[in-house]
Amino acid sequence: MEFLETAGTGDQEPYAPEVRERLERDAKEIIARYPKPRSALLPMLHLVQSEEGHVTPRGTAFCAEQLGITPAQVTGVVTFYTQYKRKPVGEYHVGVCINTLCAIMGGDQIWNELSAHTGLGHDEADADGRVSLERIECNAACDFAPVMMVNWEFFDNMTPEKAKALVDDLRSGKQVLPSRGPNELVGWKDASRVLAGFPDGRAHEGVQAGPESLRGLELAKERGWTAPPPSAERERPHESGGQEGRNQ
Ligand code: FES
Repeated sequence: MEFLETAGTGDQEPYAPEVRERLERDAKEIIARYPKPRSALLPMLHLVQSEEGHVTPRGTAFCAEQLGITPAQVTGVVTFYTQYKRKPVGEYHVGVCINTLCAIMGGDQIWNELSAHTGLGHDEADADGRVSLERIECNAACDFAPVMMVNWEFFDNMTPEKAKALVDDLRSGKQVLPSRGPNELVGWKDASRVLAGFPDGRAHEGVQAGPESLRGLELAKERGWTAPPPSAERERPHESGGQEGRNQ
């Protein structure tokens, strides 16, 4: 087991000229998507994370410089969102959802057994940097609880046994596929680049909405339920004569 190291002194140095040139090119493209440069901070942080795996002091300085804000303002955002890492994570960053629904469906048990199996705690990585673990909050996939994520791809309906086998496969270099989404699980830095807004062409691969997610829609169709049109004048219960009735 190895605790994630804090940022080393090397990452205080400026980027190498060829790296900086590439990042500046990408930054220009990202910033052009927004009316104001500072609005581009979130994808910019994913961009610098895609370069070094986490947001280093030089990544923070680069974002501040490109966006015309202070390093303190950048740091305020980095420390707010848990998707931004200030320490190295593994090539495969594994999240176990321990939010309410997943927890009662087995997420807590998965976390306990997986942590014991790997010897890793929350926000800790393997010594070889292959795998890191994190307890995560709801990932909006409660219909597949308990859920795990690897580099933000879904692994649905997990059990402690499936979780341990998944991490063993990741550690041994065996190819694993998410339950839904792309037909290849890319590494952490590549996934960060996609989140920066540079698609890898895999967004439409694999299963999109699973049967569990579509069940409500099917029921509505079977029973003829429809939503009112957005422009419909709708009476609220307290306006539909109730007030008059009470006044009579
Ligand atoms: S509680 Fe785990 S995905 Fe929602």
